[in-house]
Formats: sequence, C-alpha cells, structure tokens
Amino acid sequence: MTVCEYRPGLEGIPVAQSSISYVDGQKGILEYRGIRIEELASHSTFLETSYLLIWGELPTKEELEAFEYEIRHRRRIKYRIRDMMKCFPETGHPMDALQASAAALGLFYSKRALDNPDYIREAVVRLLAKIPTMVAAFKQMRKGNDSVQPNDDLDYSANFLYMLNERKPDPLAARIFDICLTLHAEHTMNASTFSAMVTASTLTDPYAVVASAVGTLAGPLHGGANEEVITMLEEIGSVENVRSYLEDCVQRKSKIMGFGHRVYKVKDPRATILQNLAEQLFEKFGHDEYYEIAVELEKAVEEKLGQKGIYANVDFYSGLVYRKLGIPTDLFTPIFAIARVAGWLAHWKEQLEENRIFRPTQIYTGVHSVDYLPIEKR
Ligand code: SDX
Repeated sequence: MTVCEYRPGLEGIPVAQSSISYVDGQKGILEYRGIRIEELASHSTFLETSYLLIWGELPTKEELEAFEYEIRHRRRIKYRIRDMMKCFPETGHPMDALQASAAALGLFYSKRALDNPDYIREAVVRLLAKIPTMVAAFKQMRKGNDSVQPNDDLDYSANFLYMLNERKPDPLAARIFDICLTLHAEHTMNASTFSAMVTASTLTDPYAVVASAVGTLAGPLHGGANEEVITMLEEIGSVENVRSYLEDCVQRKSKIMGFGHRVYKVKDPRATILQNLAEQLFEKFGHDEYYEIAVELEKAVEEKLGQKGIYANVDFYSGLVYRKLGIPTDLFTPIFAIARVAGWLAHWKEQLEENRIFRPTQIYTGVHSVDYLPIEKR
C-alpha cells in the first residue's frame, strides 16, 4: 500500500467519490445533483431540494406531496426528550442542546437496519422532521416556557418560525428562510459532512451520525462563523471603524469571520444570494445598520486580501438575514444544522451503498523502545 504525502487538514485529498454536489472554487459554482444553486434558490423548496440530494432526482408531484406529508406528521418529539431539555442549563449553547437531543433520538429509534430502504427513509423523515422542533423547543424552554407544538397547517419553514416565535410568519419571511435552508443544505466534503461519514462508516445509527456532525458544525471555523460575524460587526460598530479593524486583524494574523474558504477563491455564490435576500428583507421590514458595515468590510477585505483568494463565504451575510427575521444570534448555527441534515443524510445514504470504514494512517514522529520508569525514579 503506498502512503500519500501528509496534507494538513486533508487539503486537496479526495476521501470519497460522490455525485451529490459539486463546487468549482475558482468560478464560484455550486451544483446540487448537477443543478446550479441559483436555480434551486429561485425555484425549489428546502424539502424538494432535500429529496433531490438524498434520492438523487427531483421528486414528481406525488413523490413530493408524500414526502412533505410524512414530514409534516412526524414533527413532534418524545416528551422524554422535551423533559430532558428542561434539565439543560438555560445558558447552554443551543448547538450543545441540539447535539444532545439528536443523540437522544437514537435511544428511541436506533435499530440499525441499514440495508433496508424503508429504515433509511424512516430515519431521513424523522431527522428532517424533528430537528427543527428540537431547536425551537430549546429556545422556548431556556426562557422557562413550554415548547410550542408544531402547526400542521404550516409548511416546513413557516412551521419552524411559528414554533420559534409563537406566531405565523409573514409569507415573504417564511419564503426567504426556506431559501436560506436550501443554500445551507449541502456543500461537498466540508468538515461536518466528513465527520458524519467517518461516524457512518462504522455502521452506527443515523442519529449518532447526525450528533457527530452537529458537534463538528458548531466550531467557529465552520458553521459557528455566522454567529461570530454578528459579534464582529457589533465590535466594529461603524463604517468608519472598518478599515482600522481590518488592519488590526491583519497585524494580529487573526481570521476575519465570514471570509475565506478551503475551496472558494472567489466570492461564495451563496453569499451573493444571501446578500440579495437581506436586501429584500430590509426593503420590506426596515434597514439594519450593520449592513453598511458589512458591505464596507467586504469591500475592504477584497482590496486587502482578495489577491490571497479571501472573499466572503456563506456565513458572512446569513446572520443579517436571520437578524431581520427576529432569530436570536445563538440560533444561527442550529439553523445551519437544520439545513445541513439533508446533506449529511445524503452522504450517509450514498456511503452505505459501498461502505468501507475510515481508517487513515499517520506519520509517526515519536520515539521507540523506551524503558518504563518507575514513579519513584521520575
Ligand atoms: C463554512 O468547507 C466548507 O464547504 C464549509 C462551508 C459549508 O458549506 O460547509 O462552506 C461552511 O464553514 C464556511 C467557512 C466559515 N468559517 C469562517 O468564516 C471562519 C474564517 N475563515 C477561516 O478560518 C478559513 O478561511 C477557513 C477555515 C474557512 C478555511 O481555512 P483553510 O482553508 O485551512 O485556510 P487557512 O487557515 O490555511 O488560511 C490560508 C491563508 C492563511 O494565510 P497565510 O498564513 O498563508 O499567510 O489565508 C489566510 C490565513 O491566515 N486566511 C484568512 C482567513 N481565512 C484564511 N485571513 C484572514 N481572515 C480569514 N477569514
């Protein structure tokens, strides 16, 4: 067996073959099953896109209606999981609450019939249906409220916003939120998807797979960046402060949140769409003073770091959309997780078709043949 050269962070190393999504980082292209993300954002819905990612083709009208029907009626969670959440500290981060709750689903449903397509579909429906309910439930419970039960009269995104805010959302707000989910659903071999695949490769249950991936997504270098961007914009405080803030970051060699990407060396196409969605919301619901700061920062980063291929990524404008939708900042990453469950499950299902446990090698840099030293001699 030939040992490849060591590449930190597996940069440029293919770890799987996949037909789910494709990114051209030089041209700023993202496709789901060959369809450009701009097309899906304009014409599709998150559930239709999830079906496309997981089963490989756009569903017929009947297939989509059946899929939506199943999900609409599986949104409720076990009362024991709700009771478990009531014991979580209200100061805990919602991503930790989500990871614990996703893992807890395995206590009720973990039966592993991975060669049974019905089991696969059941797991897909349960996770897509219940993850939003768990995110909304923790948000309510940490305030001492009971969770808001799902409203079966509402579609996927409208229901989530209803459970979150206890009122039916404006149709434009619900549509824009649904587009955000489509934009965040899948992105080739990102860290949380890779984490999902490594976990899945041992043939554990899909609930453990999603719990692994949620933990990975939470980090500020990955899905956690969207929350950090708002903190950064608050810290900058005004358009006038942008360039001095950037200069300070460059001097300290600290990463600017919402910028840079392992693959994109131009502006992330999702950032462009999210920027437009933010502007649509501002037009209808009023402006956000952070937007000017964000636009000025993007311009300054492009001038200063564009030649290094550092441009705005998906996390840069998403937070401004969620803020305008009245979503608390620490729920931005759980919302990323709600969407990415579709991509994680698509890769889980694809991998099961030809699974081999992930077990890479290492370059040993330690010593050999060391004698054991009794403690009294140390
Ligand atoms: C997501 O992989 C995916 O597809 C992820 C994602 C998805 O949909 O799943 O797209 C979602 O996670 C988007 C990224 C969100 N994270 C952030 O916005 C955090 C800030 N970004 C950086 O941490 C960084 O750009 C990463 C983590 C996104 C990418 O890291 P890499 O590829 O390991 O790049 P690197 O850290 O090796 O940096 C290469 C160079 C360095 O400079 P030099 O030391 O070579 O001089 O670029 C610089 C870095 O200092 N650099 C940055 C920077 N990102 C890279 N400098 C300032 N600000 C930044 N944001």
